[in-house]
Amino acid sequence: MKTVFKFSSSKISQIPDHGKPEFAFIGRSNVGKSSLINMLSESKLAKVSATPGKTKLINHFLVDERWWLVDLPGYGYARTSQTVRQDFSTLITDYVTKAKGLHFLFVLVDSRHEPMKIDLDFMQLLGREGVPFGVVFTKVDKQSQRLTNKNIETYRQTLLQWWEELPPMFVTSSEKRLGRDEIIAFVEGCLQEEK
Ligand code: GTP
Ligand code: MG
Repeated sequence: MKTVFKFSSSKISQIPDHGKPEFAFIGRSNVGKSSLINMLSESKLAKVSATPGKTKLINHFLVDERWWLVDLPGYGYARTSQTVRQDFSTLITDYVTKAKGLHFLFVLVDSRHEPMKIDLDFMQLLGREGVPFGVVFTKVDKQSQRLTNKNIETYRQTLLQWWEELPPMFVTSSEKRLGRDEIIAFVEGCLQEEK
């Protein structure tokens, strides 16, 4: 898989009309989006940081000249004492609701936590807007498989309160390189359907 960084955008109007499907990665700050993108592309193209809020722009990476991997800024970070920032920045809402090339959105959630309101709110926004999405559980290396399974089951039950059908789900660890094949196979399946 040959992945090349092409451009960063601070507004969706800066994204050129490129005609190839975009598969984007989103989630709370620090959930592991950039690490997952590096794991998928077997590269160090996306900047990883222990400090939340590292990725501030929309970054487009072209894969095998066929599809785009899109790294998005995190949501739900930077609450200062005085101002509570908008939960989802304009850049993120613009991208998920208006970007022409967006084909599928992977929403990353930390596998160590029970469902968090901000992630559920975001998925509801996607549901309302009709954006196809899947859930990626990250950092499973940080806990036992039993706990991961328990948290995923809680997630399923929570989502089933709103939806009859569950979105595709992926279990990953960028540290241990888990879940790569499943995500790549999913993307390939979508690309085949396009034809
Ligand atoms: P922002 O761009 O700031 O929103 O963060 P991000 O979601 O891109 O997260 P990033 O990939 O920068 O990772 C955040 C931190 O989590 C870094 O310290 C990573 O090393 C760590 N991390 C990411 N994925 C994993 C994983 O699978 N396992 C472990 N143990 N740590 C991980
Ligand atoms: Mg990042």
